[in-house]
Amino acid sequence: MTLLLNGFELAGQCRASLAEKIKTLPRAPKLAVVLVGSDPASAVYVKNKEKAAGEVGIESAVYRFETITQTELLSLIARLNADNEIDGILVQLPLPDGINEKEILQAIDPAKDVDGFHPLNLGKLMIGEPAPIACTPKGCLKLIHQAKQDLSGLNAVVIGRSVIVGKPMAQLLLKENCTVTMAHSKTQNLPELCRSADILVAAVGKPKTVKADWIKKGAIVIDVGINRLENGKLCGDVDFENCFDKCSAITPVPRGVGPMTIAMLLENTAEAFCRHTGIDF
Ligand code: GUN
Repeated sequence: MTLLLNGFELAGQCRASLAEKIKTLPRAPKLAVVLVGSDPASAVYVKNKEKAAGEVGIESAVYRFETITQTELLSLIARLNADNEIDGILVQLPLPDGINEKEILQAIDPAKDVDGFHPLNLGKLMIGEPAPIACTPKGCLKLIHQAKQDLSGLNAVVIGRSVIVGKPMAQLLLKENCTVTMAHSKTQNLPELCRSADILVAAVGKPKTVKADWIKKGAIVIDVGINRLENGKLCGDVDFENCFDKCSAITPVPRGVGPMTIAMLLENTAEAFCRHTGIDF
């Protein structure tokens, strides 16, 4: 029997318990979201984040710009860093060409970095210090734990080496005592490598890349991909229908990792509020 890792349901539970805790706070946590450019997918993600925040009692302020210069964006971030009413800051990625993304991410106060993309926070993750953890990998780990609590000694393969998903995901799995391999576009014999995985995390960005014969029987498979097919339907990086029976647990797309990313953003914002105000809950 394969366990369907229902991220929609788990995210709903995380959000409900967060909403209960937020009710007890003296003021609402506040998240600043910065969206630059006209990428339609980013606009949808930001709308979803704004709506989800409101539903758990987090206030959000969205700063939308069709275009902005590097200097103007840096000065907005400096203002948000200094603003005592703002607990968390998120700059939606990707930023348009002409903006130096790394410089922008480094300008965010690490204590307000709800994405966990600041180098200081990524470094803390690497050395095992508490730090905000990137939302998608954090959500993926919660989903993996739905299938299995103790991951010690398992072989994990992460396909994709982005700062948003692959790199922090590998660190989190390492912290769980997995033997972790990071695969990417230059990896040789990817199907063979994937067949060694007890845990397989696919963050490739190409529909149905992971085939049934890449899966070790009983593997836990986490699909980070959100791809739109020509027929308008969403699908993941894993060939879900054909892989399903071989896995012990697998996430669907949609309703898998996506809702968890948003739930973890809300958690990270509440944690940023606690860091900022010294109020614990
Ligand atoms: N773009 C795609 N995923 C993310 C994310 O988790 N955070 C931000 N800021 N941008 C993204």
